[in-house]
Amino acid sequence: MSPAADDPRPPVRLEAMDHDNDGRKYSPSAGRNRQDIVDALAEELSPAGDLLEVAAGTGEHAVLAAERLPSWTWWPTDRDPDALTSLRAWASQARLPNLREPTHLDIQGSWPLEGRCLDVVFASNVLHISPIETAEALFAGAVRHLRPGGSLIVYGAFFLPDVDPVASNVQFDEELRASDPRFGVRELSDLTERALARQLLTPTIRPMPSHNYLLRFATRI
Ligand SMILES: C[S@@+](CC[C@H](N)C(=O)[O-])C[C@H]1O[C@@H](n2cnc3c(N)ncnc32)[C@H](O)[C@@H]1O
Repeated sequence: MSPAADDPRPPVRLEAMDHDNDGRKYSPSAGRNRQDIVDALAEELSPAGDLLEVAAGTGEHAVLAAERLPSWTWWPTDRDPDALTSLRAWASQARLPNLREPTHLDIQGSWPLEGRCLDVVFASNVLHISPIETAEALFAGAVRHLRPGGSLIVYGAFFLPDVDPVASNVQFDEELRASDPRFGVRELSDLTERALARQLLTPTIRPMPSHNYLLRFATRI
């Protein structure tokens, strides 16, 4: 799937969210990208397994994915109390047996996984909106908790070597850095270098709509 050059959808921004009285939040960007992300995951994932979603946000991705992939057990987490409230509201409304109770996990903290061995760690739209130390912690945590041959899958906007950055992502990067100088659209080459240093493999790259990518960093077998 290639991003259309004239795709009118903006990248994920610092955004205002609607919410229901039951606590479910709606992220405009998740509303736009969740179908594409879940379609891509359905093609990327093996028939069954355990997936930890970090920085899961509202819960819209988790519910759609757990519906679409019933043989995958989905463990949604976030560090933000408001996100956890929304995640729990979406999960309790969806009542999906394979969607586990959302729990607190700070990527930069200890990962309270009680020895669980994961097939996939998934992170959507977090690396640009957090310091680079979060990427380091994500790679380290994934390597600690993935089974051999498991994958860290990361979705978002990235600058790729030898690909001219589109104006919308350059502007997005500037907005992020203005909001916090530690944030910004990440260079894939820098992420790959950090991942390799943690014994992950060079990622596969799947182009997604609106100039986003799905990166898959496998662990060694
Ligand atoms: C832009 S939102 C993305 C949410 C969702 N994954 C999506 O794609 O719509 C970024 C999320 O990252 C979470 N986050 C940021 N830093 C984090 C960290 N160190 N550990 C866990 N979650 C974090 C925030 O709480 C927020 O829910």
